[in-house]
Amino acid sequence: MSIEALGYIGINSERLEDWAAFGVRFLGLQVVEQTRDVVKFRMDDRKQRIIVRRGAHDTGVTGWEVANAEALDALAARLDAAEVRCERIAATELALRGVAGGIRLLDPAGHQLEVFHDADRDGTAFVPGRSMSGFRTGPLGVGHMVYLTPDMRPLRRFYEDVLGFHLSDYCTAPFQASFYHVNPRHHSLAIAEGSASRIHHLMIEMNQLDDVGQGYDIALAEPGLVPTTLGRHINDLMMSYYVRSPDGFFIECGWGGRSIDPVTWEPFELKHGTSLWGHDRDWLGAAASAEATRLRTRAVDAGMRQPVQVEEGNYQLGAAPRAPWEGA
Ligand SMILES: [Fe+2]
Repeated sequence: MSIEALGYIGINSERLEDWAAFGVRFLGLQVVEQTRDVVKFRMDDRKQRIIVRRGAHDTGVTGWEVANAEALDALAARLDAAEVRCERIAATELALRGVAGGIRLLDPAGHQLEVFHDADRDGTAFVPGRSMSGFRTGPLGVGHMVYLTPDMRPLRRFYEDVLGFHLSDYCTAPFQASFYHVNPRHHSLAIAEGSASRIHHLMIEMNQLDDVGQGYDIALAEPGLVPTTLGRHINDLMMSYYVRSPDGFFIECGWGGRSIDPVTWEPFELKHGTSLWGHDRDWLGAAASAEATRLRTRAVDAGMRQPVQVEEGNYQLGAAPRAPWEGA
C-alpha cells in the first residue's frame, strides 16, 4: 500500500500562457498539450508530469504514486480507518491526469493530494523545451514539493503516521523544516514553518550539471527571476538555484541529488542550516538571512564537504594522484 513516488504535480493558475513560455524556456519542459484551459508538460517517458489548469491559484495538487489498484484500495482503507475523508477521482478527471485510477483527499492544512496508479506512458522520445539533457525521474518521481504551513505538527502526524512517509532529517534554524522520503530520493516532500499554507517550491532535477549552469545563465538574464542563488544543499546534496514561477512560488532547478537507502536511513537534526554554500535568499528577511550566513560559515569551519553524487556514465575519472580523502 505504500506510496512510492511523487508522480505528478497539478497547478491551478490564471496565467496559462505565461506558464507555457516559462516551462519551456526556464525549465526545459516539453509542452504536450496547450488549450485555453490547460497546459500539460512532459519531462520523461510519462505522457505528462506537470499539469497547469485554469483556475484561481492555490496550493496545487501533489499526485502520489502507488504500485497498482490493490495498493490504492489498501491505502483508501487505511485512510478510512484513520477517519480521513477521500473520494475516487471520476473517469473524466482520470483521463486528464493520464492515470488508470486514483483518489483525492486533503491534508490537515488543506493541501490537495491525489494518490494514483498506472500512469500513461509515451513511446516517443522526450524533447526538452530548450537544449538540455533531460530530467532525473523514473522511480525517484518528479522531484520534491515543499509546503509552508503555520502549524507543522498536524502535518507531521498526517504524513508520517497516516501516509507512511519517512523522516529523512529536520532543522530548526534558520527556519523549521522536516524532510520526508518515500524512495531513495532524499526527500520527495518537505514541510517548513511559514505564515500561511502555500507552496514554497517544487524541485526538478536535471540530468547534467551543465543543464543547471546553463539554466542559471538564462534565469539571471531576467531581472528578479532568481530568488535563491546557486548553492548546494546540506542534506540532499543538490546543487541548485531557484526561479520564480508565474504564480510566485519557486521552482528549484537542481543536479546531483544523493540517493539514500530507505531501509537503513536514520533521521537526525541538521545543525548547520540547509546549505553547504551559496543559496542566498532574497526572500528570507534580514534576521533569518544573517542566521543562514552564520550557520553556513559554521558548516565551512566544521569542514563539511561532500563528494559529488553522480550517475553511472555521467562522470569521467581524472588522471591524478591518489586523492587525500582516499588515505595512504
Ligand atoms: Fe528543495
